[in-house]
Amino acid sequence: MGEKRQESQPLAQGQAVPPDRTSWWAKMQQRFPTLQRKRGVALVAGLMILPLFGLLGLLALRNRHDSGNDGATGGTAGQALITDDTYFYGQSEPVYPSPAMTGVGAWADAYRKALDFVGQLTIEEKVLLASGLPTSTGSSGTLNGCSGNIDAIPRMNFSGFCLNDAGQGVRATDFVSGFPSGIHVAASWNKDLARDRAESMGLEFRVKGVNIHLGPVVGPVGRVVRGGRNWEGFSPDPYLSGSLVTETVTGIQSQGVITSTKHFIGNEQETNRQPTGDTESVSSNIDDKAMHELYLWPFQDAVKAGTANVMCSYNRVNNSYGCANSKTQNGLLKTELGFQGAITSDWDALHAGVASANSGMDMVMPNSKLWGDKLAEAVRNGSVSEDRLTDMATRIMAGYYQVGQDKDFPEPGIGMPVDITKPHDIVDARNISSQKVLLDGAIEGHVLVKNIKNALPLKKPRMLSVYGYSARSPDQWNYKSHGGVAAWTFGGESSYLGRDTQAGFSGHYFEDFSDIAPNGTLFSGGGSGAVTPAFVSSPYDALNARAFDDRTAVFWDFFSPDPDVASISDACLVIVNAYASEGYDRPNLRDDYTDGLIRHVADRCNNTIVIFHNAGIRLVDQWIDHPNVTALIFAHLPGEASGRALVSLLYGESNPSGKLPYTVARNESDYEHVAKPDLPVGQFERFPQSNFTEGIYIDYRHFDLKNITPRYEFGFGLSYTTFNYSNLKIEKRDDANTDEYPTGEIREGGQVDLWDVIASVSADIKNVGDVYGGEISQLYVGIPNAPVRQLRGFEKSFLNATEQATATFPLTRRDLSVWDVVAQKWHLQPGEYRIFVGRSSRDLPLNGTLTI
Ligand SMILES: *[C@@H]1O[C@H](CO)[C@@H](O)[C@H](O)[C@H]1NC(C)=O
Ligand SMILES: *[C@@H]1O[C@H](CO)[C@@H](O)[C@H](O)[C@H]1NC(C)=O
Ligand SMILES: *[C@@H]1O[C@H](CO)[C@@H](O)[C@H](O)[C@H]1NC(C)=O
Ligand SMILES: *[C@@H]1O[C@H](CO)[C@@H](O)[C@H](O)[C@H]1NC(C)=O
Ligand SMILES: *[C@@H]1O[C@H](CO)[C@@H](O)[C@H](O)[C@H]1NC(C)=O
Ligand SMILES: *[C@@H]1O[C@H](CO)[C@@H](O)[C@H](O)[C@H]1NC(C)=O
Ligand SMILES: *[C@@H]1O[C@H](CO)[C@@H](O)[C@H](O)[C@H]1NC(C)=O
Ligand SMILES: *[C@@H]1O[C@H](CO)[C@@H](O)[C@H](O)[C@H]1NC(C)=O
Ligand SMILES: *[C@@H]1O[C@H](CO)[C@@H](O)[C@H](O)[C@H]1NC(C)=O
Ligand SMILES: *[C@@H]1O[C@H](CO)[C@@H](O)[C@H](O)[C@H]1NC(C)=O
Ligand SMILES: *[C@@H]1O[C@H](CO)[C@@H](O)[C@H](O)[C@H]1NC(C)=O
Ligand SMILES: *[C@@H]1O[C@H](CO)[C@@H](O)[C@H](O)[C@H]1NC(C)=O
Repeated sequence: MGEKRQESQPLAQGQAVPPDRTSWWAKMQQRFPTLQRKRGVALVAGLMILPLFGLLGLLALRNRHDSGNDGATGGTAGQALITDDTYFYGQSEPVYPSPAMTGVGAWADAYRKALDFVGQLTIEEKVLLASGLPTSTGSSGTLNGCSGNIDAIPRMNFSGFCLNDAGQGVRATDFVSGFPSGIHVAASWNKDLARDRAESMGLEFRVKGVNIHLGPVVGPVGRVVRGGRNWEGFSPDPYLSGSLVTETVTGIQSQGVITSTKHFIGNEQETNRQPTGDTESVSSNIDDKAMHELYLWPFQDAVKAGTANVMCSYNRVNNSYGCANSKTQNGLLKTELGFQGAITSDWDALHAGVASANSGMDMVMPNSKLWGDKLAEAVRNGSVSEDRLTDMATRIMAGYYQVGQDKDFPEPGIGMPVDITKPHDIVDARNISSQKVLLDGAIEGHVLVKNIKNALPLKKPRMLSVYGYSARSPDQWNYKSHGGVAAWTFGGESSYLGRDTQAGFSGHYFEDFSDIAPNGTLFSGGGSGAVTPAFVSSPYDALNARAFDDRTAVFWDFFSPDPDVASISDACLVIVNAYASEGYDRPNLRDDYTDGLIRHVADRCNNTIVIFHNAGIRLVDQWIDHPNVTALIFAHLPGEASGRALVSLLYGESNPSGKLPYTVARNESDYEHVAKPDLPVGQFERFPQSNFTEGIYIDYRHFDLKNITPRYEFGFGLSYTTFNYSNLKIEKRDDANTDEYPTGEIREGGQVDLWDVIASVSADIKNVGDVYGGEISQLYVGIPNAPVRQLRGFEKSFLNATEQATATFPLTRRDLSVWDVVAQKWHLQPGEYRIFVGRSSRDLPLNGTLTI
């Protein structure tokens, strides 16, 4: 394979990790204690990477050449190596000056207060609001354990900001909950639950004194199937992602905590995400149509929902850095979407001070090497206008007022000690009212995709056998476990001693990363999106408690690749995982070790039930048709209630109601070139290019276009009951304006009339089975000159046996439009629109036509 990475050979349980793999990291951590925190990692990694990659770069180069000619990369052979960025000038349209905040829509009041506040500040104070605190590798300058800080301005009664990770709970501190991850929320397709989760999570950030929550994630959307961070976000479908980010932003900000919706934009692969040595970050080359209809779409929803912060990304877009790209920041976000908040850099994503300021970035993290005093100097010498600086500060403070942080918000970082092992005042952020959402959230993100011979639910089994490395708790759950390597901090306790996460996280791309986390149950992915809950229920803990009550005989082996199997077991559970982490992309979509274990058990047990904790898409064709594999559950990343949720589903106390938020292929090759990340090749060796040539055709749009039969289609999932669909109604609103282009003014989210409801579709859903259950009914629209069908509505209905409900799907102007690259507007085309309603993207019993 023409890749830097070898196909990985997962180590068997107990097999020692070669000591030299971790020691470099352990040594670094001893030298730089601050590495146990994200910002420390970012800071030191930046310093270390340069000399490190001098050597590793050579190594990689050799590997690349050793690996032979990958046909796809040969096209540029013979052309001169590009060594100068000027080669790419003009590929991203310049959009200047940076538009100042105007206080439109719901922002008028916050804008007025922010103007008043900022009007009293000196240049230095405005710079201070925009610049992460300077830190040293020691503890001086570190006020708290937050991922980033903005200093206080005492004379203004402003106490500063604490910014902290991330998407599924407050990371790297004590007394917090572990919520389900983004992919898990998407698999539940439940807007109400997404809102409840966000409110509960937002409350924990608030109680801990975190002003800015570094999430949610809608970029990556999941273009690259092996993408290391796809699990942090929701789904490769922009409508599903957009609906869920709306609830998440609204829920978190309702608690007075600012969301930093990230990563803006085109941050679709981890490989080459940061510059290393003389190689720049990968460039996501995205055409204007795909940008609007796919990548920008969920960000538009987040802006509409009022996100007060957006994080610009590590990658380049059309060869211009994410945090210095005037087209994406000044143009798309601040002009077209009317964004009123502030743009914060991803950690160490700033590569040019003046350019980033003028291209619309408003706050740098985690330090101010390029801003701080230098920004003040740039304002004084005219490179950056004072108006631009004032606008930065105004946008930052408007967010603060918009969510009400001027009124009784806790002291920044009050519950975030620098070192939780040292004595400190306990701030328990957990709230008993969140118990239900933690458990329901965990349950609803499990997706049952195979269930034959009535394998599930279990019927009071006399004997159960449990296999697989993802069943039990990791051996350690401890702050500084593994000899000083804080795997706990990055969600690495069950992976290889946290080796992979930490290696990738610090930009060390050349490890033979593992496909799995072999050392205990997986309930979160790794990196800054991980979470550190106060406790975790593992599947085995919960099964054991249940067996105790039922007096079930239990055998288990979490260790062997070829365990003894008691064939008289009523059921054999194989609980395994697919790991992913920030910092690197997954080496594969399946692995031989796990597939071998499943086949070994299935050959010996005629009721083999497979459960995958999958941090992304996991292929199953190596064994799914084995007649003894009776059931398969994609359990995703459920958070702290993992075990309890699984047992509740296995025993039928709850009914599976999740559906896949992505497409599972029969073979990795079915995803074609987006299966894996793009690598630096040929003349672009120093400027890696990722050409998004597939446009909007990723995931099910691609499978539909190419007429490829997936193993499990987007939107698919089984239940213990069945639902019938009937009575499709399609109504165009009488009063709807169906002019071809919107004419409304721009407010946050874009032109206001994009949100006008043009038509409404409804259908009846009836539970025709025997038990209570939840059904996700899905509306797809075939827009003229667009994919045959695209998700444009979904509703989750919980129904008792024989009960019926009507699902209603409003269709807005944006839902029915295509992006017109000439008009630079959303275009509502006159014509016939195909309407489909049903159970999944390929099981659509109802159809009809809407005429515009
Ligand atoms: C990137 O380039 C494409 C092709 O020229 C263009 O359609 C698109 O608008 C550009 N995007 C940005 C952000 O510059
Ligand atoms: C700061 O708070 C004090 C006490 O509440 C108040 O007297 C003072 O006016 C405030 N200053 C500003 C600049 O808001
Ligand atoms: C202005 O100051 C900035 C920041 O130090 C510096 O990068 C830039 O070169 C200066 N410009 C001029 C014209 O002196
Ligand atoms: C728990 O949540 C409820 C409802 O949001 C709230 O009223 C209560 O103050 C919270 N308790 C704590 C200790 O935060
Ligand atoms: C699993 O954890 C144990 C205890 O920390 C350790 O000895 C072992 O090497 C780990 N195995 C792997 C594969 O990381
Ligand atoms: C299924 O399991 C039974 C044991 O219950 C075993 O005898 C049989 O060979 C297995 N079938 C296959 C196809 O492996
Ligand atoms: C497994 O085999 C046993 C006896 O050999 C049989 O009673 C049972 O029904 C089989 N289970 C399945 C799911 O086929
Ligand atoms: C997937 O396709 C490759 C060739 O593209 C083939 O070698 C491999 O056997 C296929 N795997 C499966 C599970 O079909
Ligand atoms: C990406 O697009 C550029 C510009 O069209 C082209 O030169 C380059 O070869 C493409 N890269 C790949 C890997 O296809
Ligand atoms: C459910 O729908 C199927 C197919 O349309 C039909 O055959 C069946 O009678 C329906 N069942 C009920 C209970 O309505
Ligand atoms: C289902 O039935 C139970 C018992 O009859 C009732 O308490 C519950 O409210 C019903 N649920 C729904 C969703 O109608
Ligand atoms: C629409 O539904 C009818 C049955 O009601 C079916 O015959 C037809 O194939 C469906 N059309 C499409 C495009 O799915």
